[in-house]
Amino acid sequence: QGKSRTAYVCAECGAEHNKWQGQCAECGAWNSLSEFVVESAAAAKSPAARRSGWAGKVDAPRVTALKDVRHSEDARVSTGIGEFDRVLGGGLVEGAVVLVGGDPGIGKSTLLLQALAQMAPSLPGLYVTGEESLGQVAGRASRLGLPLDGLNALAETGVERILEHAVALQPKLIVADSVQTLWTEQLTAAPGSVSQVRESAARLVRYAKETGAAVFLVGHVTKEGGIAGPRVLEHMVDAVLYFEGDSGSRFRVLRAFKNRFGAVNELGVFAMGDKGLREVPNPSAIFLSGGSAQQPGSCVMVTREGTRPLLVEVQALVDSSPLSNPRRVAVGLEQNRLAMLLAVLHRHGGVVVGDQDVFVNVVGGIRVQETAADLPVLLAVLSSLRDKPLPEKTVAFGEVGLSGEIRPVPNGEERLKEAATHGFKRAIVAKANAPKAGSYKGMEVVAVERLSDALSAAE
Ligand code: TYD
Ligand code: MG
Repeated sequence: QGKSRTAYVCAECGAEHNKWQGQCAECGAWNSLSEFVVESAAAAKSPAARRSGWAGKVDAPRVTALKDVRHSEDARVSTGIGEFDRVLGGGLVEGAVVLVGGDPGIGKSTLLLQALAQMAPSLPGLYVTGEESLGQVAGRASRLGLPLDGLNALAETGVERILEHAVALQPKLIVADSVQTLWTEQLTAAPGSVSQVRESAARLVRYAKETGAAVFLVGHVTKEGGIAGPRVLEHMVDAVLYFEGDSGSRFRVLRAFKNRFGAVNELGVFAMGDKGLREVPNPSAIFLSGGSAQQPGSCVMVTREGTRPLLVEVQALVDSSPLSNPRRVAVGLEQNRLAMLLAVLHRHGGVVVGDQDVFVNVVGGIRVQETAADLPVLLAVLSSLRDKPLPEKTVAFGEVGLSGEIRPVPNGEERLKEAATHGFKRAIVAKANAPKAGSYKGMEVVAVERLSDALSAAE
């Protein structure tokens, strides 16, 4: 009873339709539907369902008072890499499915192989590769000097076969590298197509939930920065982590974009070396360009992504434009926000950049998403426009409102402390973020309420 049926899923929004159509009725995207098979509940039951995992036996569904549900609060396992644990929210949770995305060559396979090897003594793992040969994986592992006891690898892309091996081997941790190479016999669509990726990932998610094994899915990133495949992949998993970083720099940042077990936007910082990824537990100063003299067009800010303050340098270049429509380019920041800030600078600061190209860059390939970057961005722009450096050892943070007011940001004191610890002498911040005394641990704190005050404080 209960046969499988065919449905069509939209690659953009994940909506399901019964018939193929040229345009998705939900989100309006064209040519985004592809076929997949919806399994009946009976067919979906895999042999793994009858096995027990970390969490013990799977109970038959019944209504239960939540206070009576047994749950293991601290069933977290360290990956052996502190910065990785940090991004996961304090270690890996049993049965968790974690999607790790990033550009090719950024270090996804390296990090997961290192973590798998570190965890092997406590959590026997299975590394499934669909992109490299077993020889390549073993070669990398030995080059990295990893302990290989308890670590098994499988070169396979068929999800049915992968699950057969998993059921036989009972690993507590599976890495699927990458999810784009997986395919299931149930679908006729080509491997790599949206429906194959979605359905194969769904199988692994189900396996993880049934057995309590943790699963890492590696995902490639498209030019637009999302994980290739349907957006629903992000909804199916417990956590989505993205690797960021400049290809020119050896530093890599792993960011929690979604996490059911920890803080979002938490950052982990790594450096790529000849022995793989090394964690950088005190990353505070690595996002500064490190030049000795203060340059025009540069402003250091204290950002607080996740639960840790970071010093980050924002650079701006303002140059007279030959174009009738001058360029506004933001790297590491949101483009629209930059356009908005320049309008505020004009209207409330009286600074005209309408005939200038404006380029803004965050040093080190990190992305800054919080509004605390507003004030530093404008100070860097002004400094470049005037070709005059900011006063030495100055930091700034604060949100800029549309009426030219400078608004406070959360965790002001913690940010000031970070700046003072790193030898900054002067901070320009919103009034509500400044201590009454006008200084913090020997650092002068200039409290500003309006953009015009901030601009004169930066003279
Ligand atoms: P990799 O983990 O294969 O990236 P991904 O899986 O995200 O595509 O990383 C490959 C890059 O890392 C490659 O450019 C070489 C570099 N690398 C090092 O610099 N040192 C090392 O020890 C390793 C293993 C890789
Ligand atoms: Mg790889």
